[in-house]
Amino acid sequence: MTTSTFLQPSETALLPFVSVENMMRLVNTTGAAVFMGELAQYIEDDFKRWPEFDKTPRVASHSRDGVIELMPTADAENYGFKYVNGHPKNQREGYQTVTAFGVLSSVANGYPILLTEMTVLTALRTAATSALVGKYLAPKNAEVMAMIGNGAQCEFQAVAFREMCGINRLRLFDIDPAATRKAARNLAAQGFEIVTCASGEEATEGAQVITTCTADKQNATVLTDNMVGAGVHINAIGGDCPGKTELHRDILMRSKIFVEYPEQTRIEGEIQQLTADHPVTELWQVMTGAAAGRQDDRQITLFDSVGFAIEDFSALRFVYSNVRNGAFCEKLDMLADPDDPRDLFGMLERAKSAPPAGIENMAV
Ligand SMILES: NC(=O)c1ccc[n+]([C@@H]2O[C@H](COP(=O)([O-])OP(=O)(O)OC[C@H]3O[C@@H](n4cnc5c(N)ncnc54)[C@H](O)[C@@H]3O)[C@@H](O)[C@H]2O)c1
Repeated sequence: MTTSTFLQPSETALLPFVSVENMMRLVNTTGAAVFMGELAQYIEDDFKRWPEFDKTPRVASHSRDGVIELMPTADAENYGFKYVNGHPKNQREGYQTVTAFGVLSSVANGYPILLTEMTVLTALRTAATSALVGKYLAPKNAEVMAMIGNGAQCEFQAVAFREMCGINRLRLFDIDPAATRKAARNLAAQGFEIVTCASGEEATEGAQVITTCTADKQNATVLTDNMVGAGVHINAIGGDCPGKTELHRDILMRSKIFVEYPEQTRIEGEIQQLTADHPVTELWQVMTGAAAGRQDDRQITLFDSVGFAIEDFSALRFVYSNVRNGAFCEKLDMLADPDDPRDLFGMLERAKSAPPAGIENMAV
């Protein structure tokens, strides 16, 4: 090791890090719609090889106001996890309800290969998953989507559904009119046809797809049975924790229910309201053709979305494929990497005589 490279880690020790700023630059090179379309392809590919993954319900730490969760999964090549919180009260205090970051690692040597923001990425992957599922389950030629809950996730959902399901007409409702005004402004700028509504009932009138995307730490009833007509597809996003649901139980009894990973959804999803043996269909099986999706025009289909680790794994893989050549990332000195792998202590000792950080660069 020469003096000028003193304390300089090797290339494997430098971890690509995607900041929020770089994530936004990456997404904006193609635009969110194309980004989510491409990401959905990664998600679909991973759902189609579902048995290859290590799977577990996410590890959740609940508190009075919210939850902090770790979401791990792995295939033979990579391990990934996301750290994510959900605090419905946050937005009233000027914070995000959901924030996240994640790591992708090499299974071969356990070294992380990517660290990335995932707050923006979670909104993109959630919407990409919803629209991908919509492609399989929504009635053909659906034109109108009701959107109940117009917070941070709302516009992403709308843009993804237009990209993948061709829906351009939206009916918006939120208990906070300021949220609806914000979403209407953003979505009008994207060329959507928008009706703002004074109630959930009004929003669902004439809609073939209903997205519920509210945040409330209770068993809420955002949708009642009378609001859901025959043939509708429900994309239920916001019921994703024990004691945090959006749909009246009667709707569940009338619907064909589709889930990501039953072991997690039975704890967290709308179906926590049902008995543990209530039949559900796993989406990966619909995507591989092993199970039927929508069976007729009058069937009510329900995507009981809670968000599963494999969707984040797909998102991490997709981002990694975009930054591995060095674009849209910084290199973080994250992994201690002595020349002799067993001489970690020696590296620490030698650091005492190293010039202060930055000096070696100045000398060059
Ligand atoms: N399923 C998933 O994969 C997934 C992923 C991300 C977020 N989420 C969940 O989606 C929900 C929305 O997240 P966000 O980041 O947009 O939250 P947010 O706080 O930014 O927005 C939520 C909106 O819901 C509105 N709202 C609350 N109760 C309502 C009601 N009864 N009727 C109508 N509107 C109501 C609020 O006024 C707010 O504008 C959260 O519950 C979050 O946990 C799920």
